[in-house]
Amino acid sequence: MMYLHCPVFRGRSILRACSPLLNRSASRAFCSRHDFNSVADQGDVDNWEDNCRGSDNWLRGPRDADWWTGPQPFQNSAHSLPFQDLTQASRADMQTYFDNTWLLTDTLFAALQGEEPFYRPPYHELRHPLIFYYGHPACFYINKLRLAGLLDHGIEPYFESIFEVGVDEMRWDDLSKNHKAWPSVKDVHAYRKEVYRTVCEVIQNAPGIESLKTDLTKSSWWSIPMGFEHERIHIETSSVLMRELPIHLVRQPESWPSLALSNTSSTWQPPKRGVNFPENSQVSMEAGTVTLGRPWDENSYGWDNEYGSKTMATQPFTVSQMQITNGDFYEFVASGGYRDQSLWSAEGWGWACFRNIRAPTFWVRDGPNGLNQYKLRTPFKEVPMQWDWPAIVNYHEAKAYCAWLTQKHGNSDAPFRIMTEAEHHRIREDTNEDTIMTTSPAENFNFKHGAERSVNAGPPNSKGFYEVFGNAWEWCEDHQAPLPGFEIFPLYDDFTLPCFDGEHQLIVGGSFASTGNQGSKFARYQFRPHFFQHASFRVTQPQGTPWLQTSCMESQGPYAGAQSPYRSPEDFVSPPADLTGTVSKSTKQEKTPDPTMKDLFAKIERLERVCEIQCEKIENLERNMATLIQALNAQMAMNAQLESKKHGSTAATRSSF
Ligand SMILES: [Fe+2]
Repeated sequence: MMYLHCPVFRGRSILRACSPLLNRSASRAFCSRHDFNSVADQGDVDNWEDNCRGSDNWLRGPRDADWWTGPQPFQNSAHSLPFQDLTQASRADMQTYFDNTWLLTDTLFAALQGEEPFYRPPYHELRHPLIFYYGHPACFYINKLRLAGLLDHGIEPYFESIFEVGVDEMRWDDLSKNHKAWPSVKDVHAYRKEVYRTVCEVIQNAPGIESLKTDLTKSSWWSIPMGFEHERIHIETSSVLMRELPIHLVRQPESWPSLALSNTSSTWQPPKRGVNFPENSQVSMEAGTVTLGRPWDENSYGWDNEYGSKTMATQPFTVSQMQITNGDFYEFVASGGYRDQSLWSAEGWGWACFRNIRAPTFWVRDGPNGLNQYKLRTPFKEVPMQWDWPAIVNYHEAKAYCAWLTQKHGNSDAPFRIMTEAEHHRIREDTNEDTIMTTSPAENFNFKHGAERSVNAGPPNSKGFYEVFGNAWEWCEDHQAPLPGFEIFPLYDDFTLPCFDGEHQLIVGGSFASTGNQGSKFARYQFRPHFFQHASFRVTQPQGTPWLQTSCMESQGPYAGAQSPYRSPEDFVSPPADLTGTVSKSTKQEKTPDPTMKDLFAKIERLERVCEIQCEKIENLERNMATLIQALNAQMAMNAQLESKKHGSTAATRSSF
């Protein structure tokens, strides 16, 4: 998955506890408080539905008081507190921020109705079901506190194994089987309660909080905000998984923030520019210089890939004042953009065909196919289409839109593309403030609203750009890459490293669901290009050469593989081949493959699929055969028994004569 990598235990030595705060007797007390009938590796199930135990009325409608595994909710409690200044935070501040984090998770999962949404795999089958994400952030605290030496043992070893490792999906057709036997919701619920109590104890009692002021990333206390910020990442990614669930499986929680709807009419109207969505002009930016990277002494929490420093020059470019809206994107959809292969990269077209995509994923068809009438899915509600909200799309769709726009304007010499990380820094406010750390930011993050809002709802910044932070993430042309000075964090050595592979696109800026580090000006997360987040894009048009300068170019590593997977500046002195049809050295995902090779690959893929199906059939046959043999054996045993009884009875009868 993910712009977040779930930790994978690799046999590292665990740092010894400097002052064990919770001992094994406490763990035993937990086990005695809750009877974990299902806490054992139960292997696989035939179908994911087999995980549903029934009697799930407690998971329907508004949750009662027992649902809340930490603090109880209160009015407006689904909003987030500002991002923390760790050099000033007291134990009480840490506790308050932790409570806020924990309550956000409990609130989010209160939306799930019944057991089904906990166990039903996502429609794309590329991630674990939500039961994993209900347990995973809790398990993360325990494992990281142990690594940091602030806790000398776990709470429930089996949970701390199965909830530790997430999924980093590979290709869009790399489907997981989703046959895992998961614990009951009740057991995971009880586990969360115990983890909450344990983390509270650590926050209140662990020594060395002062070391955060000076040592920051080197302090054992760094593991505590690491748990907070990791949980906050999963709050957002889980909200996306919930947005992807069938609508009848979710219910908007009572304390969920309000939606800032622009269109409340149930009558369908095609969008009109300037009426239903704003004119979105291109603003000229002169050449400039930016410095990327979080200083090591910065007072808030940062992930490994944010540290280091890289100064980059940007060429003159124009860029849209606002993010591309649903209204903007509708023209692309209605004009057949999803059916025109020439607009898509080879990889993007493969994804669109595989999924049979006709419109952005959160557009809900409202009428027959081809009528192009849509509603909009927010995390928990379907609402009339919000034409002035940012279009939530993946990287492939954003790129196809840019190619369509280039074609529409007939100017292939200066094609449109999405922004680079450096260009995003150029359109930001010239200020040192990290607004996610302030108490009343104008931006739509920290769950100010329960979904996106109009692209020009907030005030423009001093450069005239709207919603540069919050509302919706922005896809970038850059691949995730380490900045010069990058260091692996010992407490989380695989947070970003597996993503230094040239296969993960950078996203920046945060969304309405971004809280804490995610909304920080230093944040630079990543996703595979076919992945969905609450992410949108701007279009930019370079006014000079080179075509593209991305932060991943000539990155010195480390790399996920043996060699640098990144493009070099020479790759982009010309526009990418998929836009112009000319030959250029481009990245794998943008390169138009040789037609012969493309046919060959297609044939191989089809054969692979046929093999997969045949293997599944063989597996089914084997299962059926095993069942038949079992039944046959049982029948034979029964026959033998009957025969034996018959003979015995005959003998007895005979003897009675
Ligand atoms: Fe994770």
